[in-house]
Amino acid sequence: MADLKLLIDTVRDELQSMQHQGKVADYIPELAKIDPRKFAISITNMKGETISTGDDNERFSIQSISKVFSLALALGKVGDGLWRRVGREPSGSAFNSIVQLEHERGIPRNPFINAGAIVVADVLLAGHQPREAIAEILRFVRIAANDDTIMIDPAVARSEQATGFRNFALANYMRAFGNLHHPIELTLGVYFHQCAIEMTARQLSEAGVFLANGGRDPRSGLTIVSKERARRINAVMLTCGHYDGSGDFAYRVGLPGKSGVGGGILAIVPGEASIAVWSPALNARGNSLLGTRALELIVRETGWSAF
Ligand code: DON
Repeated sequence: MADLKLLIDTVRDELQSMQHQGKVADYIPELAKIDPRKFAISITNMKGETISTGDDNERFSIQSISKVFSLALALGKVGDGLWRRVGREPSGSAFNSIVQLEHERGIPRNPFINAGAIVVADVLLAGHQPREAIAEILRFVRIAANDDTIMIDPAVARSEQATGFRNFALANYMRAFGNLHHPIELTLGVYFHQCAIEMTARQLSEAGVFLANGGRDPRSGLTIVSKERARRINAVMLTCGHYDGSGDFAYRVGLPGKSGVGGGILAIVPGEASIAVWSPALNARGNSLLGTRALELIVRETGWSAF
């Protein structure tokens, strides 16, 4: 781990000169306030040890990275039946695109685009009040991270609720096809709150390490998901985790990864480690620009790859 610590410190220093590139997400007003110079990397290995650098103890909005945890939870609840309501193919379209829903009967291409994650939130809402479903997602993340201090930022959730016109459109459209089973305000309430979970880079690499370790948390010894399910979630992360940038991410980084518009990325090195990076300025596809670059440099030096 000493070598790795040196590596991530070097990557951080190297990328400092590129901090003017990219653009912080501003369609969610609360996220537009974030300082684009923030930067963190955290790596958790199979022994459950974590090293980190930069603003590694600062919380950021995990946004779409929450879709990994809600997918794992929903698969645990309804099993493969989930795939009747959401696909598992890359969309080749932007994360908030509506176009495919018309031709594809309101069934989103995959659980990581907004439409797909809204369906997953609707699945988690079954038999619950929204606040119970939200609490269940938060509990899952806290168990995975072994950390009870992880919270939701209510200001970010409110900010999305007030400006999430696209998500309301997606939800209405899917409800028209019968693929949402609850009033859209309730389903979106769950979705906006899960996106507003905030974590530090350290907490995020710790929360994701079960996916690198065959579904088991190396620290608590708890099985979070089965080995087979971990493998499948990683597969969907690799093919769909960066939306229309998934192919480029796979080409450059070669690992399952999930991005969020808060500038975080969770990447999984099966059998080796989980990596969380945070840099708020995004590329044109809504994925962290320097975060991706940092991952590229890390895999180049370590040789880590899913292939
Ligand atoms: O619904 C939204 O637009 C946001 N809460 C999440 C989108 C997101 O993180 C896309 N990621 N790169």
